[in-house]
Amino acid sequence: MKACSFTLPHDFCKDARKAYTLPARFYTSQDAFNYEADEIFAKSWLCMCHVSEVAKPNQYVTREVLNESILIVRGRDNQLRAFYNVCPHRGHRLIEGSGTCKNVIACPYHAWTFKLDGTMASAPNSENIYDFNLDESCLTPMKVEEYAGFVFINMDPECKTTVEDQLPGLKDAALKARPEMYDLKLAARFVTRTPANWKNIVDNYMECYHCGPSHPDFASSVQVSDYWHKMYKNWSLQWGRAISSDSSFAFEGDSSSFSGFWLWPCTMWNATPVPGMLTAIFEYPLDAETTLQHYDIFFTNEELTQYQKDLIVWYRDVFRPEDLSLVESVQKGLHSRGYRGQGRIMADSTGSGVSEHGIAYFHSLVAQYYTEDKLGKCDK
Ligand code: FES
Ligand SMILES: [Fe+2]
Repeated sequence: MKACSFTLPHDFCKDARKAYTLPARFYTSQDAFNYEADEIFAKSWLCMCHVSEVAKPNQYVTREVLNESILIVRGRDNQLRAFYNVCPHRGHRLIEGSGTCKNVIACPYHAWTFKLDGTMASAPNSENIYDFNLDESCLTPMKVEEYAGFVFINMDPECKTTVEDQLPGLKDAALKARPEMYDLKLAARFVTRTPANWKNIVDNYMECYHCGPSHPDFASSVQVSDYWHKMYKNWSLQWGRAISSDSSFAFEGDSSSFSGFWLWPCTMWNATPVPGMLTAIFEYPLDAETTLQHYDIFFTNEELTQYQKDLIVWYRDVFRPEDLSLVESVQKGLHSRGYRGQGRIMADSTGSGVSEHGIAYFHSLVAQYYTEDKLGKCDK
């Protein structure tokens, strides 16, 4: 595996004050991406959607990630399951989109049908086929877990861990910041096929150094002067005091707060200063330089107020495009002959609101996949 030549020391980025970023080739190489697909994405719990999308029997969603389509469906027995969205006959995709499906899913190609527990229901002309065994032709399942109101999948058939094992303490912290995590309703979704490596997008989330220069409206409410970013095991929390602002978050009372959670490897939950509101960024990496993203906005009420509608428009037209153009520009710059290959991580000694120590933590975790020990194992 060529990515095995991308070695990094064990202590890469461990001392944030002296740290430089991951080298540019980690963001542009397809070999590195393929390695991360196998070693990170196919072996980690990945957050796919909010549970409200699959709350009732027969509700399903599909998600595109890596080169896979994944089907998450709630059965008639109320159990949530996840499968590769691929027909065991000749490999056609079984179902598109999301919504409510019938009690069986029919493959569009030759009409093999499957129950929602993944077992085969029927295959046309199978009674005339020598030794055809319905039991052998079920869908390929993967692990699925509901956690803090969200649905996570894990493609590793050997996985013995839970989401809580991967992200210890996250659920309690998220529920503390937003007790309504289980009661959220999807109010808006912005889908982008972003021309940026998944780590570039995480990097952008892991610091509020850019908030002042690049998000003037956001910074008018969330105070970078009273802001901190704390690292936990495989997740982090950015907290900022907020004051009501006409150009971004407006709320009753003197102050509120923003809590932004990053979850390994590439999901973010934001409890905004507006009560009962949460935004979620789902990254679905597709290749080295393309990441499909869902930016979901949730409220607890179904009928939106005019203020909530206006806020969604602000997210769609102002705040979201600001971040998208940042990461797209960075992705191009990483190819420049004039870029020196690594950038200084601007972590200060106090971990202030503008400190970039969150990037150092993220890069130290990625680096653990690129140590000689780890790469030596993957070569065998
Ligand atoms: S590929 Fe699905 S029925 Fe043939
Ligand atoms: Fe941003």
